[in-house]
Amino acid sequence: MDDSLVAAVSEAAPFPILVAPDPALRRKANPVGPADQATVRAAIPRLFAAMYAAPGIGLAAPQVGLSLRLFIIDLQTDGVRDPMVVINPEILYRSAEVETREEGCLSFPGQYADVTRPRAIRARWLDETGARHERALEGLLARCFQHEADHLEGILFVDHISALKRNMILRRLAKRQREKDARRA
Ligand code: NI
Repeated sequence: MDDSLVAAVSEAAPFPILVAPDPALRRKANPVGPADQATVRAAIPRLFAAMYAAPGIGLAAPQVGLSLRLFIIDLQTDGVRDPMVVINPEILYRSAEVETREEGCLSFPGQYADVTRPRAIRARWLDETGARHERALEGLLARCFQHEADHLEGILFVDHISALKRNMILRRLAKRQREKDARRA
């Protein structure tokens, strides 16, 4: 991340993150085009600010109500920031080999479940400077990339688990929301 982005993130107002079952989380996001440049430039620092504050390792534009094919990732391995901006991603290849790991999502605060996904992928995307990337990804980065790319399709991590577990998570979230509303009242 260049110094100007670091400064912009520290000064940015974090976006509020939408919580499931907000209908905006279910919409397929629009491709980022030339007309979206100013919106994207303004949104990136606010997305990072929201993700770091949460804290989390990935956040997609639809989670803050922006219908754009844009997400950010920072695995913060060993506490070191390594931000990645992904615009208009395409997953070109998914390995037949799968892996199961526990996942969460900032739109499902406090909720976790084991999710099975391809272990490795090959993906193509643009970064915040418009540069084109094509890379093979594996491990946590591949998992996070797939989770965030799902958000752009309106797909959530709970769609990859059984209906029983999904309903349990949604009930727990609703209960949490009621408690929050009660405290506010
Ligand atoms: Ni998520």
